[in-house]
Amino acid sequence: MGRGKRKYSCMDAGADEWSSRLGFILASIGSAVGIGNIWRFSTIVGQNGGGAYLVPYLCAVFLVGLPMMILEMQTGHRLRAQVVQAFHRARSPLRHAGWIVCILVTGIIGYYLVVTGWTLAYVVFSLSGTRELFPAFTASFAPIISFLASAAICGAVISFGVRKGIERITTFLVPAIFVILTGMVLIAVQLPGFAAGVSYFLTPDFSVLADPLIWGAAIGQVFFSLSVGYGALLTYGSYFRSGEEIPRSAAIVTAADLAVAFLAGLVIFPIVFSYGLEPAAGPELAFTTLPLAFALMPWGDVLAVVFFALLFFAAISSAISFLEVPTVTLATMARIPRRRAAALMTIVVSLVGLPAALSYSAYPLHIGGVPVLDLMDEIFGTFGLSVSGLLIAVTFSWFVGPEVIWGDISRLSLFMRIVVPLCRYVIPAALVIVIVFRVLSWFLPAG
Ligand code: PFF
Repeated sequence: MGRGKRKYSCMDAGADEWSSRLGFILASIGSAVGIGNIWRFSTIVGQNGGGAYLVPYLCAVFLVGLPMMILEMQTGHRLRAQVVQAFHRARSPLRHAGWIVCILVTGIIGYYLVVTGWTLAYVVFSLSGTRELFPAFTASFAPIISFLASAAICGAVISFGVRKGIERITTFLVPAIFVILTGMVLIAVQLPGFAAGVSYFLTPDFSVLADPLIWGAAIGQVFFSLSVGYGALLTYGSYFRSGEEIPRSAAIVTAADLAVAFLAGLVIFPIVFSYGLEPAAGPELAFTTLPLAFALMPWGDVLAVVFFALLFFAAISSAISFLEVPTVTLATMARIPRRRAAALMTIVVSLVGLPAALSYSAYPLHIGGVPVLDLMDEIFGTFGLSVSGLLIAVTFSWFVGPEVIWGDISRLSLFMRIVVPLCRYVIPAALVIVIVFRVLSWFLPAG
């Protein structure tokens, strides 16, 4: 191995590897299952007419999301590289695209940690029995404190490394998420509005399938929800030694992600319908609407703690995977120890996210009348994610020999023979369409 190769070795960053395939799968589920499944998914379903949205969503999961996840994990595993070095291996000038991905991912963590902080604050409120209303919360400086606390927690976990930090915590958080959700579904089933909630959530209305905007929204949400497009799973794949199982592991992660989104819907909509709340309430559904219902429910105080703990566990395990991307990149490229890189990146994301945190605080920072957090969600969570996903999909399915990523092509399974062309043609085409529609939507009047 020449000096050039050593220069980019992940091991230099003090990065280790997963202890087992289960550790890799749990960490990847931790990354995928996040606020996107519980808060963003139910919001988008609510705003796009309920069950109608599920058809494009499921198509997007299987035609675009799962293949992209396999591509990312497989690329990380085969190239054994973090994002920038993986792009560099494809073609040296493409490393700049790797840096673009790193910058975009740093933007997304900034605002994602703000929402993670809200969930942390609501865990604390519900533990202390305080019924803090969202407007009162966001009129204080508490969102800043909870944001900085969340950033510090992520940085601390990452500084312990892959196995002792990320794997250890996700091995606790991911099972806890499933236990809590299952318990909450069992409670939701007994609510009077269960049938109405489920039929709103699950009845498909095929007439919306002609609306291209719904398809674009579904692809964007699938990328966000499955954590693909930002190199997080590429990075996690690089810590996975025995990668023959990657397609099956990715299928398990996708199934778990779908399961959490569905179970969350089976909890949220029955509550909404049982207590006469507004299903299309928008992003405040989790923080404003549901606490009203908890206040009316038997054992509501306990339910509130459990629900916000669920949100917090889901959010923090995803935020950790985001932060890992620029941290390990910085550690390898600048050849500094992981701990120092984690500390530096924690400071960077705290600064990047501060305007978003302020925008929902006593100092409401808006640009053009829009809270900075919402702008960052649009720029990094929606638009940036598509751009970054396009860079990854095109680079690793067009600029690297297929045998480098997939091994002996003639020996691929039937499933993988479908996945490879999906990565080469369908994903880039879908993302170009999503980006074009997004850009058009900025210039065309709404409606
Ligand atoms: N998948 C996470 C969620 O659903 O909330 C968000 C996410 C995490 C997106 C990590 C992208 C990523 F790299």
